[in-house]
Amino acid sequence: MLNGEMKLARPLRWGMVGGGQTSQVGYKHRIGALRDNGAFELVCGAFDVDAERCTEFGTRIGVQAERCYGDFHRMLAEEAKRPDGVEVVSVATPNFTHYEITKACLEAGLHVICEKPLFFTVAECEEIEQLAASKNLIVGVTYGYSGHQMLMQMKAMIEQGKIGDVRMVDLQYTHGFNAADGDHLSEAQAWRVNPKTSGSTFVLGDLATHTFYMAHRILPNLHIEKLMCDRQSLVPAHAPLEDNAHVLFHYNNGAVGRLWTSSVDAGNMDAQRIRIVGSKASLQWSAAYPDDLHYQVQGEPNQHLHRGMPYLDEQALEYERMGALHTEGLGDSWANVYLSIALAIDAANRGAKDELEAVQYPDVKAGKEGVRWLENCVRSSESGSAWVAYQ
Ligand code: NAI
Repeated sequence: MLNGEMKLARPLRWGMVGGGQTSQVGYKHRIGALRDNGAFELVCGAFDVDAERCTEFGTRIGVQAERCYGDFHRMLAEEAKRPDGVEVVSVATPNFTHYEITKACLEAGLHVICEKPLFFTVAECEEIEQLAASKNLIVGVTYGYSGHQMLMQMKAMIEQGKIGDVRMVDLQYTHGFNAADGDHLSEAQAWRVNPKTSGSTFVLGDLATHTFYMAHRILPNLHIEKLMCDRQSLVPAHAPLEDNAHVLFHYNNGAVGRLWTSSVDAGNMDAQRIRIVGSKASLQWSAAYPDDLHYQVQGEPNQHLHRGMPYLDEQALEYERMGALHTEGLGDSWANVYLSIALAIDAANRGAKDELEAVQYPDVKAGKEGVRWLENCVRSSESGSAWVAYQ
């Protein structure tokens, strides 16, 4: 259980690129990083494309004006001159900038925590993976809900044989916020549907990479062998990128899966759902009710497991904060992701290899696998939604 005790000898000096006043995701990063006493300390930022807005906003969230920078190149150059310069940088900017900013930070000797989808291509991910390894630097990826304790409970129960052999994996990440989009798109929406700024996908990268990684955290031994992807732009203004997609896939153990992702699922507020069906029982979790896990044994009454209860596995209790009955949610899950990345950075800095290997966090490989998933989905959809061997 976590109770605010310091896990690191001192906080990591942390900066942000992006995540400014108008950003959708910036506050989630700060909630996650600053939740646990002494893991991170926000010292600088190039928070915005607009330099004036960057300083105005940065000072209002407590950063010294001289450490609010008009662009990230200047931030890296100026911070390198300081004895108390930044050590780790979060990248919370539109997708097309992730690779360039991450590479520049690593070259400057800084750890990186980057948004998803990590980059545009697996080749870019491999290059960055090698660069980070050569400099003993960590690259974490903010799959925000992947730190939720009840996902760790699902993993533990499956490992303990509680559902039998895994047969089906049913994933969903859909919402309806773009169902009514006309031709006029907001700034954040416009870059998401432009291949130059979003990459080769919209909702598959924007939403489904989260669920894909969460399923992998629960089922680390299952690997996709082939898939087929059917995707379309149901709202013409989103073309050429998809606002809706269905993906079918086969795993190496004979299990089958399906994933539906959409931003035009009008009215749906139960966005993310993970159901794992085994030969004896099923487990189901929903992001809308994250503290609850449904355990359904064939022929028996359903069981409803609650977050924070002592009957849960220690993997699920390790990152508990509030205790049962007191709801947690997305902010706490982000804090778990950030804390695990802080522990990885600290272990890497101390050269503690065994400790580093023991930390479970979304790393550069997880980012790469998300991009690989996108490349395979695109290859299938561009072949008339044919089944393709997973590469
Ligand atoms: P947004 O368009 O709402 O905000 C982007 C922010 O980055 C703005 O503050 C903008 O001024 C700033 N920015 C853009 N280019 C910059 C540059 N070169 N230097 C400094 N600042 C720059 O975008 P949003 O929705 O916040 O998404 C950003 C990233 O986060 C995307 O990669 C997106 O996929 C990801 N995201 C992740 C979520 C998660 O749950 N992990 C949720 C929402 C977005």
